[in-house]
Amino acid sequence: MLKEDIQNRIDKNYNFKFNQNAQNLELYPYFNEVSTASSPVIKVNGANMLNFGSNNYLGLTTHEKVLSESIASLKKYGSGVTGSRLLNGTLDVHKKLENKIANFYNKEASLVFPTGYTTNLGLLSSLLTSEDIAIIDAQIHASVYDGLRQARCTIRSFKHNNIEDLEKTIMSCKIKPTVCVVEGLYSMFGDAGNIKAICGICEKYSITLIVDEAHSVGVLGNKGRGAAELQQVMDKVDVFTITFSKSLGSCGGAIVGPKKIIEFVKVNAKPFLFTAGNTPASLTSALTCLNLLDANPSFIKELHQKKDFLIALLKEKGITPLSKDGPIISLALGNDDQVITTWKKLMDKRVFCNPVLFPAVKKGKGLIRLSIMRTHTIEQLKLLVSSLESVIQSNTI
Ligand SMILES: Cc1ncc(COP(=O)(O)O)c(C=O)c1O
Repeated sequence: MLKEDIQNRIDKNYNFKFNQNAQNLELYPYFNEVSTASSPVIKVNGANMLNFGSNNYLGLTTHEKVLSESIASLKKYGSGVTGSRLLNGTLDVHKKLENKIANFYNKEASLVFPTGYTTNLGLLSSLLTSEDIAIIDAQIHASVYDGLRQARCTIRSFKHNNIEDLEKTIMSCKIKPTVCVVEGLYSMFGDAGNIKAICGICEKYSITLIVDEAHSVGVLGNKGRGAAELQQVMDKVDVFTITFSKSLGSCGGAIVGPKKIIEFVKVNAKPFLFTAGNTPASLTSALTCLNLLDANPSFIKELHQKKDFLIALLKEKGITPLSKDGPIISLALGNDDQVITTWKKLMDKRVFCNPVLFPAVKKGKGLIRLSIMRTHTIEQLKLLVSSLESVIQSNTI
């Protein structure tokens, strides 16, 4: 038996109640079991489905070279490093990857973390204090919020991608904000950050700009470095954070920027120091994916061709995505019931995608989030659109 105080807390929790109700109604959209690699077709709960629910934008998680190099790494270094980077958990592969990332971004240094989440958490919680003000886009990822909360700094958000509101927010601060944190490509609406204009504002007020390119690495810019590259302001961004868990087909993350910041974070960030280093195979997967991306900028073009094809087809059918900037194709659906019903109908048609519900978005602003992979075939994209068309038609009947 649970003690009464814990029992009450759990029973009152919104997410817990939602999960219980949805499970009872057999409309539970989360924790589906996938029993194959992340490919355009995956097995979900035992059934083959078209996969429009991954962040494997370049389709590299199953690339032959990624697999062979990662297997060799597993054999050479074993399955885990069994300790903190500070002590026994730094491999030569960490160093190779950090050098590669720093060179790729043309910055002084880089530091690899076990996840993208701990990358933002470690950077922000160590760099800032309760005396700082951090300015963030209203749509910023939870890892940024959590890092700022851990730093106990004052958090001021500006309207999503709204440059006038950014400047108004800065001007309303009693002291000069220390950092501004934004994203290269936002994961809910799929739109690119207005990095060029934000650089101008940060320069004007002398604010350190941090851009999280988690979803834009491998997706935006000629070399796939993200939104800042696409908008030709790489040198104006002070620090980038990236994750390996999307286009870089692995798990982990990194900060890339001035050596002094990297050296500071390295000896102060608790989410870096008090956790074990990345597994060897995951480091090698990320390194191999980055090398592949560097050698094959055509991958990015191929992804955008698929995306443009899909958007044109959707438009023909009267379906308008929220953004056409990248491979995240979000469709505005409405309230949670409408989103879940649509998601379930798509699952019944063997289309796997992600529902986005409150509290991830405002009440009544739920989304169906589709993500495209470079390796989807035109035929698969056509199948997606015909499934969507019939599901959306049936919703309105
Ligand atoms: C913008 C952003 N930053 C950081 C993260 C965390 O990355 P990871 O899942 O690799 O920990 C995510 C994850 O979705 C993200 O969207």
